[in-house]
Amino acid sequence: VSPFLIDTFRRRHDYLRISLTERCNLRCFYCMPSEGIELSPNGNILTDDEVVRLATLFVRNGVTKIRLTGGEPTVRKNIVDIVGRLNTLRRFGLQSIGMTTNGIALHRRLPSLVANGLTHLNISLDTLDPFKFEIMTRRPGHEAVMRAIETALALPELHSVKLNVVIVKGLNDSEALNFLEMTKDKRLSVRFIEFMPFTGNKWDKAKMVPSSELLSHIAERHPTATRAPDALNDTARNYTIPGYQGSFGFISSMSDHFCGSCNRLRLTADGQIKVCLFDAKEISLRDQMRRGASDEDLLHTIGLAVRGKKEKHAGMEDIDVITNRPMILIGG
Ligand code: GTP
Ligand code: 5AD
Ligand code: SF4
Repeated sequence: VSPFLIDTFRRRHDYLRISLTERCNLRCFYCMPSEGIELSPNGNILTDDEVVRLATLFVRNGVTKIRLTGGEPTVRKNIVDIVGRLNTLRRFGLQSIGMTTNGIALHRRLPSLVANGLTHLNISLDTLDPFKFEIMTRRPGHEAVMRAIETALALPELHSVKLNVVIVKGLNDSEALNFLEMTKDKRLSVRFIEFMPFTGNKWDKAKMVPSSELLSHIAERHPTATRAPDALNDTARNYTIPGYQGSFGFISSMSDHFCGSCNRLRLTADGQIKVCLFDAKEISLRDQMRRGASDEDLLHTIGLAVRGKKEKHAGMEDIDVITNRPMILIGG
């Protein structure tokens, strides 16, 4: 990667997460504040051309992996077209295009997304119980997500299909073993995610289940589960169960952060570069672009942001949720 994407802790940032919209067709309580959010005026959201211009700049400077997020990325108009345009960046070294989605509107669009170059799909699903689904997401739609998972698994072009399960104590922590059963005869990777604090999500340490606790619970039932080798810069610690086709893992952002191997940068839907999920500090690339900045100018700004990246987040008790954005405006 180019020096502009290396921070003062020598971390190389070759993974860009692009949020394409602030909108969402669900209302998950851990992501969307109950009072809702004020959407940016449409004109403040990056246009398709601006997204592609910035993505091109990042890829030409060493980004090999792009993940599209939101809000919910599938509600962005032209999403299929955007993926197709990003796919042309393979000639500059882009290796994968992923998307993190709630799956609600996926079933119909997935074949064309994949035809246009989507390679990695992470679907958020916190419960296998349709009733609980409505409690957690404040909307119906469980069946649509289950169907999207099956559609995804049937597409061999998708290199990986993962399920993101945010575990909240007393709500869905009892479902871990049921999720594991989904991996028995499916090439599915289920990741249990520690509940993280963001503006308006009423995070409380007591609602968080540390991964170690969940692992002990799983190991009682599956004593043969074994740790899989770490993939480079993976957010998850993964395990396999002999005889199971899929795998499972833990994303322990709170109890055991992985900031030391962080290779991620974020672009918000309104065009800010954000160097850490938990750092409220952002710099607008959109404003600079709209003032006529050259790629060199933009790259300098990106470099400045990257060099300002902190070594690690502040820790469970000290994360600043007040000035940071709600999760829906970051995209995970
Ligand atoms: P893969 O490319 O499949 O490894 O996806 P990912 O884990 O990078 O991204 P995904 O969008 O599926 O996010 C899964 C969970 O990891 C979400 O809860 C994210 O908020 C969290 N996550 C992603 N990137 C970071 C990060 O840089 N730091 C922290 N603390 N959490 C992250
Ligand atoms: N804590 C942990 N994970 C979260 N996600 C959204 N909000 C939170 C939170 N507060 C997850 C979503 C999605 C991914 C982008 O981030 O479930 O899978
Ligand atoms: Fe929407 Fe995804 Fe947030 Fe749920 S997690 S409210 S689906 S953006």
